[in-house]
Amino acid sequence: MRIIKTYTYEEMSSKAADIIASQIKSKPDSVLGLATGSTPKCLYEKLINKYVEGELDFSQVRTVNLDEYKGLDKDNEQSYYYYMVNKFFNHINIQEGNYHLLNGMAEDSDEECKRYNEIIRSLGQIDLQLLGVGLNGHIGFNEPNDYFSKEIYLDALKEKTIKSNSRFFKDPEDVPRFAYTLAIKDIMQAKKILLIANGKNKAEIMREAICGKITPQVPVSILQLHQDVTIVADCEALSLI
Ligand code: F6R
Repeated sequence: MRIIKTYTYEEMSSKAADIIASQIKSKPDSVLGLATGSTPKCLYEKLINKYVEGELDFSQVRTVNLDEYKGLDKDNEQSYYYYMVNKFFNHINIQEGNYHLLNGMAEDSDEECKRYNEIIRSLGQIDLQLLGVGLNGHIGFNEPNDYFSKEIYLDALKEKTIKSNSRFFKDPEDVPRFAYTLAIKDIMQAKKILLIANGKNKAEIMREAICGKITPQVPVSILQLHQDVTIVADCEALSLI
């Protein structure tokens, strides 16, 4: 595990963008696993800037997103589809068929998991998986559990996650109670993992992630067993280590 400590959120975003840029330059048809949430917002802006300045070419890049709320459609501003397309994909030269997201409006959840599973298999191994971390240690939407998940599934969100994510919604009641997520196994099969975190409220979970016991009750702790993890985090998020 490599840990890169930065002083600011912006520096964290720049360093993480540099790592993703190196990945794309060394393998132009890289498969990137992508995350949403507040943490990677500035990172996506940095990648867009690199594209605009002619430093990066996304024409062969393929991406697969980690998760999606059940019940939110593509036009809903809180859906991860909306986030990715509007904050990132529309601003770079990625080809439309090359980015993949879960469909929050799928009628049959099992079929949707199956469909996405087939996409992941057809892409082969994820070259670089970007992750943020939830306050309770979730990665993707793998919430604390009694076991580490093996298959893409629909997870019930825990109270802590619903409360934390309510900051994005007008009414806390609007936060979906279920979300699709790649499994821990899919994440662990990525060749490289890049975890980003910032802010004081992430300090405790970052301590558990890096120094704590490996347990499915703290899903992020499993990363201690991955052979190529880079953490880029600001000094507040790393303040308890
Ligand atoms: C979202 C995702 C989640 C977030 C986590 C942290 O695609 O994978 O695990 O990374 O909830 O969210 P923020 O960045 O908003 O603190």
